[in-house]
Amino acid sequence: MRLRLVLSLVFLAAIAADHARAADAQKTYVGSEKCGECHGDEYESYKSNSKKAHSFASVKRMKKYLSEKEFQSCFACHTIGFGKPGGFRSEEETPKLKDLGCETCHGPGSLHVEKDDGKNIQKTLTAEMCMVCHTKDRSVAFRFKPAMFGGTHNK
Ligand code: HEC
Ligand code: HEC
Ligand code: HEC
Ligand code: HEC
Repeated sequence: MRLRLVLSLVFLAAIAADHARAADAQKTYVGSEKCGECHGDEYESYKSNSKKAHSFASVKRMKKYLSEKEFQSCFACHTIGFGKPGGFRSEEETPKLKDLGCETCHGPGSLHVEKDDGKNIQKTLTAEMCMVCHTKDRSVAFRFKPAMFGGTHNK
């Protein structure tokens, strides 16, 4: 009797986890401009103050020094959701996702936008989420190649 109860609880928990995963999988990226339609103040502040709003220009500037493969390696940290469902693919296909923005910190926002109930979006953030990109060794690595040209080979 007990065992059956425990087993069915485990079963229900598994279904709940499945649903949560399915909801997460449904979430895709909409781009910061969309968020600005309802969060105008945050959007204005982001546009005028945040370096994230120019993150694609940063890597594009370096493109002539990089192979195509090296250039693509920048996207994981300099665009929204590269390699994830509904994330950045290329400047032509997904122009709204080329610069980092709201969803870089708050996660994919499609469900939040669709339901418009103030939910389905990450509010509480942890440093670990930032450190995916703001890593010490990667910072050195990404600065290394441009640094090699510093001063003497500028075009
Ligand atoms: C259609 C309108 C609408 C759009 C578009 C929208 N939001 Fe919201 N958002 C709301 C409402 C309504 C709330 C709840 C009231 C409030 O905090 O303003 C909210 C709340 C939030 C919160 C706080 C959630 C909490 O738990 O308190 C965050 C973070 C947020 N939105 C981020 C975003 C991001 C990121 C985007 C773009 C992906 C976005 N919103 C787009 C309507 C919208
Ligand atoms: C997907 C990668 C990524 C994530 C996740 C990320 N950042 Fe960034 N962040 C960047 C990049 C890239 C830049 C530099 C953009 C440029 O200058 O081209 C940046 C710039 C910044 C800056 C510089 C100043 C400014 O105004 O933009 C701050 C501060 C910052 N991020 C804070 C955070 C915090 C806090 C978090 C977590 C809540 C976070 N970032 C998450 C990639 C990321
Ligand atoms: C692991 C994540 C990551 C990768 C991959 C990455 N970057 Fe960055 N990049 C960052 C972060 C974080 C910042 C901003 C914080 C800082 O200055 O440490 C940044 C900032 C920059 C800046 C702005 C420097 C400034 O202050 O003006 C340039 C330019 C840049 N990256 C170029 C590139 C290029 C080119 C590539 C690909 C070869 C690349 N990055 C790959 C994370 C990354
Ligand atoms: C660098 C990371 C980062 C970026 C980029 C970012 N946010 Fe946030 N946002 C935060 C943090 C941190 C909080 C505070 C969360 C808390 O209160 O725990 C927050 C809070 C919010 C809230 C809730 C405000 C409240 O008073 O309850 C909204 C709404 C929001 N952000 C919308 C946006 C929108 C829209 C954008 C893009 C224009 C954006 N955010 C970009 C980190 C970020």
